[in-house]
This record gives sequence, structure tokens and C-alpha cells, in this order.
Amino acid sequence: MSERVLISGASSGIGEYLAYYYARQGARLGLIARRSVQLEAVATQCRSLGGQAIVLPLDVTDPVAVKTARDTFLREYGGIDLLIANAGISGDDHLDSGNPEAANQILTTNILGITNLVYPFVPTLLEQKSGHLVLISSIAGIRGLPRRGAYTASKKAVKALADSWRFTLERSRVRVSTIYPGFVRTAITARRKTIMPFLMDVEPAAAKIAVAITTGRKNYMFPWQWRLFLPVIKIIPDWIVGRVV
Ligand SMILES: NC(=O)c1ccc[n+]([C@@H]2O[C@H](COP(=O)([O-])OP(=O)(O)OC[C@H]3O[C@@H](n4cnc5c(N)ncnc54)[C@H](OP(=O)(O)O)[C@@H]3O)[C@@H](O)[C@H]2O)c1
Repeated sequence: MSERVLISGASSGIGEYLAYYYARQGARLGLIARRSVQLEAVATQCRSLGGQAIVLPLDVTDPVAVKTARDTFLREYGGIDLLIANAGISGDDHLDSGNPEAANQILTTNILGITNLVYPFVPTLLEQKSGHLVLISSIAGIRGLPRRGAYTASKKAVKALADSWRFTLERSRVRVSTIYPGFVRTAITARRKTIMPFLMDVEPAAAKIAVAITTGRKNYMFPWQWRLFLPVIKIIPDWIVGRVV
């Protein structure tokens, strides 16, 4: 039986290429994002690659919309094998603006967007006693970067949620994985003006994530250079980080 895969943030970047990866394997896909025209184009491409795809245009900050999409997905496919919570935004904190709106938008999308998406599927996952939940964090979760406090906090929160949920869900044979991508060439990095070491193209990045999922990695950071430099990055003095970033 082909895998039933739900991907949030499937209209572009990593989520889009994850959709193509699973479509090539004949998966039955549910594609979530806000931009319905882009989602339809991704779904068409998925079908041409051999998969099935339904589009579920919604904002992950809207829990009611997610519950409706859950009902549609489960009605269509009868269960879920893989849920990839990938939707996310990045950006400047605008700390000096006196207005928390930008930071709140990042925190809401990247944290509540995950709980809104995951919770409605948990009863089904527990009932099935199978399935795989994958949360997309970031190497940014390793330490706070200048002007990216909200983004860093959100990605640390994603790691904490996955670490905790793993205890509850794995008792019911539901796997939980956290992915920590380094810099990947997508709309998010296109906006960055700072240096981006070990920048990767999105298609091989999505393939690496998919392989890590298949092999059941609980925590997966890529590319490998970040794993090597992780202990160093944690102790680099703030003044160097400030200068470089
Ligand atoms: N690129 C990198 O270097 C990098 C590194 C580490 C981690 N990540 C993480 O990887 C994930 C994917 O990012 P990306 O690099 O592929 O960037 P991207 O191309 O901008 O993709 C972000 C996706 O999230 C969706 N999205 C954003 N806000 C949403 C909302 N409120 N509701 C529903 N969907 C929403 C976007 O679709 P719509 O705009 O159509 O809603 C889009 O499909 C993010 O969680 C990001 O933090 C990326």
C-alpha cells in the first residue's frame, strides 16, 4: 500500500521537494500551505510523478481550518503514515521597533502552527498504533543569532516539543523525528544578506530529509559539516557571532 503523507509548507522550498520525493514513490499526499495556486501546481507535478495529491489550502495558525483539513485527509485516505510539520517563516525580530508583531508572527507560525497541525492527528496515530511524526527545526535552534531571537526560540521550541512528544507517542509505536537543516537555497535564505556556510540546494536537501525519515533517525542535522562544528558553534564568543552574522 502506498504511504499516506501530509506535508505542511508544501507550496515551496523544502516542503515542495519533499512532496515530489514522496510522489515519485507513489505516495498519497496531502499538501498544506496558504497559497492555493502554488499548491495546485505542486499537486499537478506530484500527480505527473506518479503520486496522488489533494490540496488543503490553509493557514496553520488557524486551528479550525486544520481540523477541517484533518477530516478531509482522513476521509480521503483512511489514515496517516507520515506527518511532516514543515511550514515555517523566518525574519528579523525588529526589536528596536517597539512593536512585537513581527516576532509574534514568527513564534505563532512556527510553534502554534505545529501544535495546531499535530494535535488533531494524535488520536488517529494512537488508534492506528503506527505512523511517523516529523518536525522541522533548524540549526538556528543551536544558539541565538543577532536579530533572529524569535526564529531561534521557535526552532528550540520545536526540538523541545518533539523530545517530549517522543516519550508519549513511541509507547504507541508512533515514531517522532526532528530535522535540523543547515542553510538550504529556498525563499527563506534568498532574503538573507549574511554569509551562509555549507549552503545546499533544495532537492538534495529534501532527499536527505526523506532518507533520514525512512531510516528512522530521531534527530538528524545536515549537511554533515554542522554536526562536526556543533560543539564549536555552542562556545564561540558572542562578539565573534555578532561580527560574522
Ligand atoms: N531554507 C533553510 O535554510 C532552512 C534551514 C533550516 C530550517 N528551515 C525550515 O524549513 C521549513 C521550510 O522552509 P523553506 O526553507 O522551505 O522556506 P519556504 O520556501 O519559504 O517555505 C515555507 C513554507 O511554509 C509555508 N507557510 C508559511 N507560513 C505558513 C502558514 N501560516 N500556514 C501554512 N503554511 C505556511 C509556505 O507556504 P505559504 O506561503 O503558501 O503559506 C511555504 O510553503 C521552515 O520551517 C524553515 O524554518 C529552513
